[in-house]
Amino acid sequence: MKDSLFIKAALSQQTERPPVWMMRQAGRFMPEYWEIKNKYSFLEMCKTPEIAADVTMLPVDLLGIDAAILFSDILVTGEAMGGDLSFEQGVGPKFANPVRTAQDIDALDVDVTHRLQYVADAIKVIQQRLSALGDKQIPLIGFAGAPFTVMSYLVEGGSSKDFKLTKLMINNHPELAHKLLSKIATVTADYLNLQIAAGVNAVQIFDSWALALSWDDYTEFSHRYINEIISKLNRKDIPVISFCKGSSVFAPLMAEAKPDVVSIDWNVDLRDIKQRLPQGMAVQGNLDPFILYADKKVIKEKIHRLFERMRGEKGFIFNLGHGIMPDIPFDNVKYAIEVVKEFRY
Ligand code: CP3
Repeated sequence: MKDSLFIKAALSQQTERPPVWMMRQAGRFMPEYWEIKNKYSFLEMCKTPEIAADVTMLPVDLLGIDAAILFSDILVTGEAMGGDLSFEQGVGPKFANPVRTAQDIDALDVDVTHRLQYVADAIKVIQQRLSALGDKQIPLIGFAGAPFTVMSYLVEGGSSKDFKLTKLMINNHPELAHKLLSKIATVTADYLNLQIAAGVNAVQIFDSWALALSWDDYTEFSHRYINEIISKLNRKDIPVISFCKGSSVFAPLMAEAKPDVVSIDWNVDLRDIKQRLPQGMAVQGNLDPFILYADKKVIKEKIHRLFERMRGEKGFIFNLGHGIMPDIPFDNVKYAIEVVKEFRY
């Protein structure tokens, strides 16, 4: 994989164009996803290696992206620890047994990689499929949720707009929050090492809701645990990508945890933030996903504007600032990827 565009850019080596993949590329905006989804529940799809592999391969086969991302979810760690997880259509994720007291936290298991073996099995099937593509060199990105973001789902019992209960725990019972975060961090490091051992070529840590935190709380309740996880990874030459919503503010702190790539939201000038990161640290993202709803002419213009910003920079992976929304037209996603692939530095 050393010669793949994605791995080279992630390690800040020269490439002829930026590699492209998109967060949530294996999902509901694709009619072919629905053909599978109509037959199985989301968790069945994640837990059946052949099906997880089929979905992982959809954007490789239909969109021609430069990296595949494992089909799974950030909440499988919470489930493995004892969370009663379900995904209902139109409702999103639910934990039926929210974690709110010292007893709830004590009841969570930490030695749980055996319960996530299905992910290792899926990775092996996906790698067979990717190697069948011959010399295309499409790497597989593994991933996990960051402790703060996973904690928010466990404490709230599902998605939340304001993270009220999570912040109440942080503010009134910081010792409980630390106990919970520390357990999740241990599980997450083991889980990512399981994925690396099974054969992923890169890993991304998703801290989707970091944006909800103040600088001090991000430092104490998020950054600290991401730092712990990254320091425990058996990285070898596996690039580590750190993503959060809020990265235009938190990027300098994210960099202190020493990922290879920082994935940036769309609120900031990408070149400017890259220049404030340590030399040799790559950046990913920065395109507002809402642009993919617009006319093709606009999509092309905005992508070119981002390219002009990054011209002459090494270490840039083209991506969105957050995931593709389910109702974005498939054709627009495909078009955006073509525009990226035509570009030359
Ligand atoms: O990127 C990919 O295509 C790979 C698979 C992937 C999924 N979830 C599949 C999924 C990845 C990388 C994730 C990460 C994830 N999951 C995050 C972090 C990324 C982000 O967008 O911020 C978060 C916060 C979750 C939690 C989660 N899972 C939510 C809030 C929901 C429901 C709402 C939504 O955005 O889809 C899910 C369900 C989910 N995860 C689906 C998919 C394809 C939809 C399931 C369905 O078909 O109904």
